[in-house]
Amino acid sequence: MYRTLTAFQDQRPGTAGLRKKVTVFQQPHYLESFIEAVFQCYPGLKDSTLIIGGDGRFYNNKAIQTIVKMAAAKSVKKIVVGKHGYLSTPAASHLIREYNAAGGFILTASHNPAGPKGDFGIKFNVSNGGQASEQLTEAIFACTRSLEKYELEELDDINIDHIGICKLAGTEMEVEVIDPVESYALLMQRLFDFTAIRNMLAGNFKFRFDAMHAITGPYAKQIFRELLGADESSLMNCLPQEDFGGGHPDPNLVYAKELVNIMMPEDASGNVPDFGAASDGDGDRNMILGRGIFVSPGDSLAVISANAHRFPGYSDGLPGVARSMPTSRAVDAVAAELSIPCFETPTGWRFFCNLLEDGRIGICGEESFGTSSDHAREKDGLWAVLAWLNLLALERKPVSEIMQAHWNHFGRHYYQRHDFEELDADVANKLIVGLQETLPKLVNTTLCGHNVTVADEFSYLDPVDNSVSHQQGIRIVMGDAARIVVRLSGTGTQGATLRLYLERFERENITMAPEAALSDLAATARSLLNLENMAGRNAPDLVT
Ligand code: G1P
Ligand code: ZN
Repeated sequence: MYRTLTAFQDQRPGTAGLRKKVTVFQQPHYLESFIEAVFQCYPGLKDSTLIIGGDGRFYNNKAIQTIVKMAAAKSVKKIVVGKHGYLSTPAASHLIREYNAAGGFILTASHNPAGPKGDFGIKFNVSNGGQASEQLTEAIFACTRSLEKYELEELDDINIDHIGICKLAGTEMEVEVIDPVESYALLMQRLFDFTAIRNMLAGNFKFRFDAMHAITGPYAKQIFRELLGADESSLMNCLPQEDFGGGHPDPNLVYAKELVNIMMPEDASGNVPDFGAASDGDGDRNMILGRGIFVSPGDSLAVISANAHRFPGYSDGLPGVARSMPTSRAVDAVAAELSIPCFETPTGWRFFCNLLEDGRIGICGEESFGTSSDHAREKDGLWAVLAWLNLLALERKPVSEIMQAHWNHFGRHYYQRHDFEELDADVANKLIVGLQETLPKLVNTTLCGHNVTVADEFSYLDPVDNSVSHQQGIRIVMGDAARIVVRLSGTGTQGATLRLYLERFERENITMAPEAALSDLAATARSLLNLENMAGRNAPDLVT
């Protein structure tokens, strides 16, 4: 049956789907409006299979029940949903491909805090398992702005707490509730040497994985404990909670403090584990730590790429690699040595998908703690953790020694991201416009002792479909020596977040602390932006 609504004007998806406060989603017809627009703009869902699942946050269940009723009205043939409504983002991407589904709804606001006062989000992924293209999300947005009605079947809620298949009463639609982990775990066993990892874990090697009370808990239990034999004490916060335990499940040095304190204690005389890792709310991000060392995401991407041919799933080598523009160029150095292409894409995972789909790249990553390969069309936190475990099982060396050897060979790209949060949106835009205006004057001047070779706004020409994306961040490049990148976040739900990305390359001098190596560049970037005068900020809110 049809229901009428007054069109919403604020449903433009950001970098990764539509994210808003739960209270915004709780407005009558709000969720339905977005879902109806997806069905209208993506007619392929009719008579097909649809995957549904989320990170278990508050409102997950409610959204799933609504989507099921709308899918029934839209003649979807079959729905596959994770038990308790759980699916990590990479597992959902994998299942879309595995089931030949027409698409999937992934209910998540990633690492943003959850609970009734937190955020909720909804992402639509298409039949290749990847996020909807910019063209599709723009079409969905346009549709919501003039939507007058939506279609929904009046049905009882379905039971998603028991595995099994049934026909939805009163409809032709089949509903299959699946174990959210099983198929994903099988895939991981094909990619990595589980025997080698299991042997390592059976010895003295100690590790900790922190699921941060979010979706990777059930995955970690099955993969690390059941399949790899890790002991119970390896797993932290592995029971998913609707509010993520009140935390902010973003695996970085600030928010994964509990793990960081274990791996990098002030007093290191105790028993520090060999390896530590964490994942985020929906399981697509990862943080890698060794005893006393943090591996920056750009370095992790480079190390995994350099060693991928040693893992069973990648033994033929990589066709190419890719990184988002702001991500450190450490992986470029690896690609150059392997004589494979390295693509530079705009921020957001969806830009990797065409390259993956076309077989041009095998591994890709972003500075924002995202790494993955062609096994899925989303970034994958546990995949990165398993890649590191596989590498450690081969090397049998501390993480710090692996990094030293890598930097000795390739040189080191010091890297940090500085976030300035909750800026007034107008002020943030003025900061960007101000910097845009100075760009032409910067080329061939000297900044921090380096000649500026490029100062522009990044545009991307997708080599697969020839689409062009403009205004993808400001970059001030000083040859191979250094870079400053500035862009506004597209995932926030409050005010504007300005991201400042700093990178400096050193061939020989590889033992500095990153903050010391980058302090000059940070001060220069802040003054170019006029941050203190215009926004009263002289220090970032978050450094990752
Ligand atoms: C952020 C990250 C970006 C990532 C996205 C989704 O987007 O910077 O790399 O793909 O989250 O996880 P932003 O807020 O910068 O637009
Ligand atoms: Zn995420």
